[in-house]
Amino acid sequence: MKNEFIDFMSQIAGDAGKELLDYFRKDQGLISMRSTAKEAATGYDLIIDKFLIGEIRRRYPGHSLLTEESGRFKGDPEMLWVIDSLDGTGNFANQNPLFSVCIALLRKGIPDAGVVYAPAIGELYSASRGEGARLNGKRISVSDVEDLRESYSLYCEGGDTDRERTGGILTGVYREVKDIRKLGTAGLETAWVASGRSETYFTTRIDPWDVAPGVILVKEAGGRVSDFYGKEWECKRSDLLFSNSTVHSRMLEVLKQN
Ligand code: IPD
Ligand code: CA
Ligand code: CA
Repeated sequence: MKNEFIDFMSQIAGDAGKELLDYFRKDQGLISMRSTAKEAATGYDLIIDKFLIGEIRRRYPGHSLLTEESGRFKGDPEMLWVIDSLDGTGNFANQNPLFSVCIALLRKGIPDAGVVYAPAIGELYSASRGEGARLNGKRISVSDVEDLRESYSLYCEGGDTDRERTGGILTGVYREVKDIRKLGTAGLETAWVASGRSETYFTTRIDPWDVAPGVILVKEAGGRVSDFYGKEWECKRSDLLFSNSTVHSRMLEVLKQN
């Protein structure tokens, strides 16, 4: 039976993305934020956050919510919507098209459905439990590369501000893989693993709204998600590895060494 939430999620992410595109590359004031891209709060993320909260509360008034911009709304603890209205704010401010709207629904703490929508590149990633992962409606799967030395790795530092630590991890990984990429949006980094464009994505002290839809996307695409010690993802800040599954254990060894 089709997941009852996925169409609704895709529709509100689509509306949100359409509105973001109306603002994208039009606000010249944002260009001055380039030097502080990481801290950039465009204001548009707040507008979209309000829109998404309104839509979800109207449709599912009993559910709980957790959003990057507004925090928690209490409701049924078993049904939790986790939202990042604009992931990749720095890219958006810098006129870089890699930004996304991220929405996930957790049922008893486990992702049940999720979408990552990148309007400027026309890519809607969606997944629901037991029903696979899709890009613009077509099934996607992780890559079948088995050798870490042949693999691409994506990386973001999440909420970790210790550059000695993250630099050390990056150097260690760089020695072992084919190459490293950094997209500037955690949502799309998870989606790149789900669609086979990268074998791994690792991140440190990442917040739940950045990766909640990615957890289900990657798993439903045949991949694996764990923390650096091999434990299942939980809805809290943590160090995480997303992979095509075949290189997962070798990559965990590398991450633990650094
Ligand atoms: C950020 C992006 C970035 C990641 C940061 C996130 P935001 O989200 O996902 O890639 O490195 O940790 O905070 O602030 O643009 O929503
Ligand atoms: Ca984010
Ligand atoms: Ca955000």
